Amino acid sequence: MSTQSEVRRLTAPDIRARKGGTPIVALTSYHAHTAGIVDRHCDVILVGDSLGMVMHGLETTVPVTLDMMILQGLAVMRGSRRALVVIDMPFGSYEGSREQAFASCARVMKETGCGAVKLEGGRRMAETIAFLTERGVPVMGHVGLTPQAINTIGSFRAQGREEKDWARIEEDAGAVAAAGAFAVVIEAVAEPLAARISAALPIPTIGIGASPACDGQILVLEDMLGLSPRVPKFVKRYGELGPSIEKAVEAYAAEVKSRAFPGPDNVYAMKKGG
Ligand code: KIV
Repeated sequence: MSTQSEVRRLTAPDIRARKGGTPIVALTSYHAHTAGIVDRHCDVILVGDSLGMVMHGLETTVPVTLDMMILQGLAVMRGSRRALVVIDMPFGSYEGSREQAFASCARVMKETGCGAVKLEGGRRMAETIAFLTERGVPVMGHVGLTPQAINTIGSFRAQGREEKDWARIEEDAGAVAAAGAFAVVIEAVAEPLAARISAALPIPTIGIGASPACDGQILVLEDMLGLSPRVPKFVKRYGELGPSIEKAVEAYAAEVKSRAFPGPDNVYAMKKGG
């Protein structure tokens, strides 16, 4: 008899089936402990390449490597039980060719056990997405603002705020869906355009700086917890952990200096008669 309680993990087809239904709740996580908390409330946990900026203090996501994604992906898989864990493919690990993309995705899936991968790009990645999905790799797309393209786009600016740009973004989203992605992240896109894409696409849209009409929402956990010093306009802070951590560390430092810590409860007495 199994001693483990049976919890079925959500799959990419489960998320795909949520189109037009109850909104899909998604957050990022890069650690086992936070993954455990997020798992109790979210349908999807994204191990985003934003970990480069959040955990490692990088300026952009460009230097993030496959090894970094696999290490944190493993931690999140260990810490979670129910949510679909999606791992971001980092810059340079999938754009070279369909074969390079398959080899990188297969490595991520084999070494972490995650249920899906995410990759950035619309029409330019459609052929690769089709190649991957036909070979057993569930792919979440990512259109609108694609942070890995920072060196060609120049800045992290919202997309589609002028109607002349709409067709390009709509075509990107349509291409990703037609190629077989099970869902698509729409990042930093003008609200009416994000709502229009959500209404048109047959697959769930997950908004970040997009629209409440999306089929789901995602935020970077540290941003919504109030831990990140600088956040985009679209982030709503649901906590202020930065100041509470500062207060706790300040109190600890003061007690260490005054020798108030460790107190009698924090040290080991000798055994009786020992
Ligand atoms: O890397 C990330 O955290 C992401 C989300 C912002 C969608 O791609």
